[in-house]
Amino acid sequence: MRIDIATLFPEMCETVLNESIIGRARRAGLIELHCHNIRSYTTDKHGRVDDYGYGGGKGMVMQADPIFRCYEAVCAELPKKPHVIYLSPQGRVLTQQRCVEYAKMEHLFLLCGHYEGVDERVLEEIVDEEVSIGDYVLTGGELPALVLTDAVARMCDGVLADSICYEEESHFSGLLEYPQYTRPEIWHDKPVPEVLLSGHHKNIADWRRAKQLVRTSEKRPDLYEKYSLTKEEQKLMQK
Ligand code: ADE
Repeated sequence: MRIDIATLFPEMCETVLNESIIGRARRAGLIELHCHNIRSYTTDKHGRVDDYGYGGGKGMVMQADPIFRCYEAVCAELPKKPHVIYLSPQGRVLTQQRCVEYAKMEHLFLLCGHYEGVDERVLEEIVDEEVSIGDYVLTGGELPALVLTDAVARMCDGVLADSICYEEESHFSGLLEYPQYTRPEIWHDKPVPEVLLSGHHKNIADWRRAKQLVRTSEKRPDLYEKYSLTKEEQKLMQK
C-alpha cells in the first residue's frame, strides 16, 4: 500500500513516520509513504501558498492551485487515481472499521489543511471524503493524517508480527482488550491473576473474553450496546 501526505510541514510527518514500527515497515518496503511539501508546488515567487479569504473574516485561506499541482504530480506517478481524504474536523469520525477499509485500498492521498481552511474549489475537485479524528479542533491536518496513517499502515501485511496482534485488540472485534500482565509475578503486593499462570488455554481464553465483555460494558457502554453476545459469551457473563 502507498500513502501520500500533502502538507506544509513534511518534516513533521517524516519525523514521526520514520520511528518505531511504521519506520521499520517503511525501511523493509512493506509500506510506501511519501510526504510532499505543498509549498514546492506554488508558482508564487515568494513561495506563498495562502491568501486573504474573499468576503472578509479572520485568517488566511490555503490556495487551490499549489494543492492541485501537488495532487497532479502524485497522480502522474500512479497507475490510477488515489482515494483522496481531506483531514478536517467537519469530516466523518475515523473508526477502526474505516481503517480496515482503507488498509484494503492500494493508494491513499491525504490532504492536510492549515490556517483558516482551504479554498473550497480544490476540495470539490479532488477530495473523495473528509475525515475527522474526533470532535475537537487542531491547528492543522498533520496530526490527524499521522493518526490515520499509523492506524492503517499497521494493518498492512507484515507490518505487525502477526495479524493476531490487531485482531485481538481493542475495537477490532467491537470489544475493548483484556488486561495484560508481565513479570514480576507479584508487584506492590498485587499478584498476577492465577488463571494466567495455569497454562490451561481454554480457561485463559474464557477469562480474557469475560474481562473484555465486563470492561466494555463498564468503560464503553455505547460499544457494548452495539455488540451482540454469542451464547457462550452470555454464559460467561452470568458466571
Ligand atoms: N484538522 C483540525 N482538526 C481536525 C480534526 N479533529 N480531525 C481532522 N482534521 C482536523
